[in-house]
Amino acid sequence: MRESFVLLLSCCVAICTAIDTITISRPIQDHETLVSSGQNFRLAFFSPVNSSDRYVGIMFNIPGTTTIWVANRDKPVKDSTGILSISEDGNLVILNGKQEILWSSNVSNSLGNSSAQLFDTGNLVLTDNSDRRILWESFQIPTDSLVPKMRLSAGGKAKIQLTSWRSPSDPSIGNFSAGLNLFRLIQFFVWKNNEPCWRSGPWNGNTFIGIPGMSSAYQSRLDLVEDNSGSTYFTYNSVNNPALFYYTLNSSGSLQAKVSIGKGDWNVTWSSLKTQCDFYGKCGPFGSCNPRRSPICTCLQGFKPRDEEEWSRGNWTGGCIRKELLQCERNQSSGQDPKQDGFVRLENMKVPDFTEPVAFSEEGCGRSCLKNCSCTAYAYYNGIGCMHWSGNLIDVQKFSYDGADLYLRVPYSELDKKNKDMKAVIASIVVVASLLIAVSAYLCWKWLAKRKGKDQDDKVSLFESAYKVENAVSNSLDRGKLEELPLYTYETLAEATDNFQSDNELGKGGFGPVYKGKLIDGQEIAVKRLSTSSGQGIEEFMNEVVVISKLQHRNLVRLLGCCVERDEKMLVYEYMPHKSLDFYLFDSIKSSVLDWNKRIVIIDGIGRGLLYLHRDSRLKIIHRDLKASNILLDEELKPKISDFGLARIFGGNENQANTNRIVGTYGYMAPEYAMRGKFSEKSDVYSFGVLLLEIISGKRNTSFYHDENDISLLGHAWKMWNKNETAKLVDQVTFHPDMEREVLRYVHIGLLCVQDSAKDRPNVSTVLSMLNSELGELPHPKLPAYTATLGSSKSECSQQRVDSVNNVSLTTVQGR
Ligand SMILES: *[C@@H]1O[C@H](CO)[C@@H](O)[C@H](O)[C@H]1NC(C)=O
Ligand SMILES: *[C@@H]1O[C@H](CO)[C@@H](O)[C@H](O)[C@H]1NC(C)=O
Ligand SMILES: *[C@@H]1O[C@H](CO)[C@@H](O)[C@H](O)[C@H]1NC(C)=O
Ligand SMILES: *[C@@H]1O[C@H](CO)[C@@H](O)[C@H](O)[C@H]1NC(C)=O
Ligand SMILES: *[C@@H]1O[C@H](CO)[C@@H](O)[C@H](O)[C@H]1NC(C)=O
Ligand SMILES: *[C@@H]1O[C@H](CO)[C@@H](O)[C@H](O)[C@H]1NC(C)=O
Ligand SMILES: *[C@@H]1O[C@H](CO)[C@@H](O)[C@H](O)[C@H]1NC(C)=O
Ligand SMILES: *[C@@H]1O[C@H](CO)[C@@H](O)[C@H](O)[C@H]1NC(C)=O
Ligand SMILES: *[C@@H]1O[C@H](CO)[C@@H](O)[C@H](O)[C@H]1NC(C)=O
Repeated sequence: MRESFVLLLSCCVAICTAIDTITISRPIQDHETLVSSGQNFRLAFFSPVNSSDRYVGIMFNIPGTTTIWVANRDKPVKDSTGILSISEDGNLVILNGKQEILWSSNVSNSLGNSSAQLFDTGNLVLTDNSDRRILWESFQIPTDSLVPKMRLSAGGKAKIQLTSWRSPSDPSIGNFSAGLNLFRLIQFFVWKNNEPCWRSGPWNGNTFIGIPGMSSAYQSRLDLVEDNSGSTYFTYNSVNNPALFYYTLNSSGSLQAKVSIGKGDWNVTWSSLKTQCDFYGKCGPFGSCNPRRSPICTCLQGFKPRDEEEWSRGNWTGGCIRKELLQCERNQSSGQDPKQDGFVRLENMKVPDFTEPVAFSEEGCGRSCLKNCSCTAYAYYNGIGCMHWSGNLIDVQKFSYDGADLYLRVPYSELDKKNKDMKAVIASIVVVASLLIAVSAYLCWKWLAKRKGKDQDDKVSLFESAYKVENAVSNSLDRGKLEELPLYTYETLAEATDNFQSDNELGKGGFGPVYKGKLIDGQEIAVKRLSTSSGQGIEEFMNEVVVISKLQHRNLVRLLGCCVERDEKMLVYEYMPHKSLDFYLFDSIKSSVLDWNKRIVIIDGIGRGLLYLHRDSRLKIIHRDLKASNILLDEELKPKISDFGLARIFGGNENQANTNRIVGTYGYMAPEYAMRGKFSEKSDVYSFGVLLLEIISGKRNTSFYHDENDISLLGHAWKMWNKNETAKLVDQVTFHPDMEREVLRYVHIGLLCVQDSAKDRPNVSTVLSMLNSELGELPHPKLPAYTATLGSSKSECSQQRVDSVNNVSLTTVQGR
């Protein structure tokens, strides 16, 4: 009886202490615990292994003590008399039994009435009770762990880094730190006593390119954000349960990703120091490290060890030097024709440190490097662009997959040698190739056999489905990239969207509905489900996966992953809270949200996204279905181009293509495309022009039939422009007389984009510079398309219009 009463009492104590806030009147004693409201994290006194010292830490609220943060790292309480409380001056303090302050949040701007709350993210926040000002937060001074929503930053006044523990039993500051380095490009580093110890390689907008397999290995989305003050932060969002995945810098300097496997145990899913090659600059200057070879260090092609003897003893610190001078380093000698230097391509490389990003196109990247003798190597990487290196090449590694193509400058003799080598290996290539053919034939046969057997695996890999649509992906399919894309299971997506309930439907694309969903961790997504009924669409699906997985731009919607299972094909995108542009633009009430400035930002953003597609990405991509419903708006109403189902990738110098299958949307298709199937950058520019005029006028091109002459928006704009009454064209919701000049320029540019002849239309980069500069005379536009011979073109269009339902992408099969 008595025991159970005591038990009851202690239960009550446990429950009563399960609070998440410390106030001046409610401190935390050594035996007490603070638990965040969602039970993700707790704050308590703890002792590390093999130590009796007491520290205040924040830890995962699961069995065991997996701490993510320690307050009094350097000053432990030596017994169990410690107290965490709010001091008179409003600071969070740790006191020992003698009321000595061992640790303090140490803020000076507190007014003396504050409280500290442990949030569900694991952040302990000290706020001023009178004005709710945040005085201090634990996320600002991390210890060795990074949990979702925490931010690491490189510079400015707030440098936020991880610092290792001294040893597993001593949380005081150790020799290692980890964080961002923004010198020239964004890289992640681990330092040992401020000397680099490990390097991630540059950030390409999505991953660090010096970490092979990065995007598939992570169950989380890494992100770089720039805040209002211009500081760059590194953070991540977990796709799975945020409480059970984190990064930590261990006391030996290895950065690790850990996932909980229950009962307080953790599996390391990735670590920065896996092989000797991961140590920064292992092989010295111009050395290259390959962990699968013995010895692991070799000199780059055209280089030899600086000190042969030390090198052969396994002392690689001296690195390598050129065997032979470059042509450009030699004094101009008389006589024969100098043989030019050139580049050898090294595949799957971790690119060296000390990159200089330069503004050159892919083609210009090598040419400009060749011209400058101090340029020793270059690389071009999607999302980063052109990188040059001068001087020593440090921390180069050869991966077995991923990485970048590094072009190394070598003298002519090395190039020649390469060619000779090539001849020698061609014979063996023939052998290997025939072997490969045999193997793929076998695989194909196996796959067919498997397909015949009804017990086929539920999970069809993307590769297998890729066989079915080989045509769709034949041109420039980058299988590596495709494999990297996270695959979601059908169950995950069904759960996220409440079994694809119609309530969650955001809209209908050309090939199926789009649903809003929420993953278990709360991340919102948009799921595009290709209609199962139509066989049509799979080509577009694969196309979209291939195209968009390669693209990274703030004005393009981001693909998070896909699902190919049970005859289902689904694409998972970031969710855009504000739906699509047409939703606002063509609605008499909602359109008021889009004031003139917002519209300008939208036009500019679409232009930038399009420029990236046409020029700046490694590929040249024609979107072919640019329209208001394919422009999504983010929280700030900034535009993102979506729906790459119809996009086409062009080869290097291809500028125009023909198709028998004309797809697009009525009202946005350039005449040469709609009638002859010819598409090019200029047909996208046409669609952009239509979109621009729609954004300014707030009216659909297609629904523009109020005029007694029954002309289109383009015709109407042309008329108004010629009559000098452009202002009348503008959506009256946004119009202000001050804007007249600007409106005039925008309409003028719009009209230039929709000219009948493709060659008269400017390209996107010209359009962007026209939009962005007030100065400069714009050329006089010619009559817009579809307006010259109103009668005949109208009948052609209305025929197509039959197929066009609710502005959905239509398909017209038409012989040429
Ligand atoms: C703790 O101490 C024991 C015994 O000295 C030792 O075997 C063990 O490795 C230590 N653990 C750690 C993490 O240092
Ligand atoms: C508190 O901050 C002051 C300066 O702001 C600094 O001199 C002092 O060392 C800090 N104390 C602790 C315990 O961090
Ligand atoms: C602290 O501020 C809160 C909210 O303003 C107020 O309710 C409380 O009485 C204040 N406490 C003290 C000790 O001033
Ligand atoms: C930290 O580095 C210093 C200097 O290299 C070394 O003396 C010390 O032992 C190191 N400490 C730990 C915990 O590794
Ligand atoms: C840190 O991680 C590395 C591997 O990533 C491991 O070899 C090492 O033992 C770890 N150090 C400690 C102190 O746990
Ligand atoms: C943890 O790692 C072990 C050994 O690598 C592996 O067998 C096990 O499946 C992993 N557990 C989880 C949940 O990933
Ligand atoms: C390694 O070689 C360098 C010269 O290349 C030399 O200065 C250094 O002392 C050597 N280190 C060891 C440990 O032998
Ligand atoms: C080039 O000429 C300069 C002086 O004319 C000489 O000092 C230098 O050593 C020469 N370099 C080479 C590589 O021959
Ligand atoms: C050549 O490259 C070096 C190093 O990047 C740079 O300082 C120099 O200005 C370049 N020279 C020319 C002519 O571009």
